[in-house]
Amino acid sequence: MGGGYGGVGRTILEVLKVSPKHQTVVLSRKKHDSVQVDYGSIDNLVSVLETHDIHTVICCFAVEGDSLAILQLNLIQAAINSTVTRRFVPSGFAIPYPQEVAGSSGDGETPVTSTYTFDLARYVVAMLDVKDWPEESRVVGDPVTWHEFVKAEEIRSKFEIIELPRHQTLYEHFPKKAFQWFMSIFELLAADGSSFITREGSPNERFPDMQPLTVREMLERLRISGVSASNDLT
Ligand SMILES: NC(=O)c1ccc[n+]([C@@H]2O[C@H](COP(=O)([O-])OP(=O)(O)OC[C@H]3O[C@@H](n4cnc5c(N)ncnc54)[C@H](OP(=O)(O)O)[C@@H]3O)[C@@H](O)[C@H]2O)c1
Repeated sequence: MGGGYGGVGRTILEVLKVSPKHQTVVLSRKKHDSVQVDYGSIDNLVSVLETHDIHTVICCFAVEGDSLAILQLNLIQAAINSTVTRRFVPSGFAIPYPQEVAGSSGDGETPVTSTYTFDLARYVVAMLDVKDWPEESRVVGDPVTWHEFVKAEEIRSKFEIIELPRHQTLYEHFPKKAFQWFMSIFELLAADGSSFITREGSPNERFPDMQPLTVREMLERLRISGVSASNDLT
């Protein structure tokens, strides 16, 4: 796993821990409890993949600097060059699951599929044992409109439009104007129906016994754990 210590990577690792038939090697630019790599060197990456007999690479890089445009491409090239590597999952985890902060895009009536990170991880791990991989797999969590989401949280009376507080802390690293331009892409994808994922051909159909968490269940968990989703909703 490249980027295995990040948010998505750690979640997949946690699910992999209870799947003893898969051995995991974490690649990192830093020296954690992992194999340190130089993503700038394809030769170094090939050598690491072959030394550790890596069959499948799961890339969980953050979208940061040249991480996807150059470094992930190097990792893909290394997987191609490696004599032992057969599969590559690129970092394309688009998982707009409900967090403590949410924004309503468009008219609020377009369904957006929200998937809990652990469910994404469970399907990724389950797919490791599948022989025929489609080029693209889209896990379906729970498709709800933003209006349905807000209703489930029962905060309609407190509905208020403010600048998301978590965004403000990012501006130091990601200038506000550029950040809003970046976020508008995702908001557009939520408003135009692109974030609605059909079940047809999805891993959900292959593993009908796996039940992803619904938005309502997620909100219920937050309520039980005392975390208020409503405080930050806009
Ligand atoms: N977490 C979420 O809630 C969420 C939601 C939606 C989509 N996603 C998508 O899932 C993917 C992973 O997200 P994440 O939240 O897990 O990311 P993250 O925690 O921010 O970072 C994951 C890992 O990426 C590696 N990394 C960071 N910058 C890099 C760079 N410039 N070059 C190479 N490696 C770099 C780091 O590994 P090392 O420092 O160990 O090398 C880091 O631990 C992204 O594509 C993200 O857009 C995540």
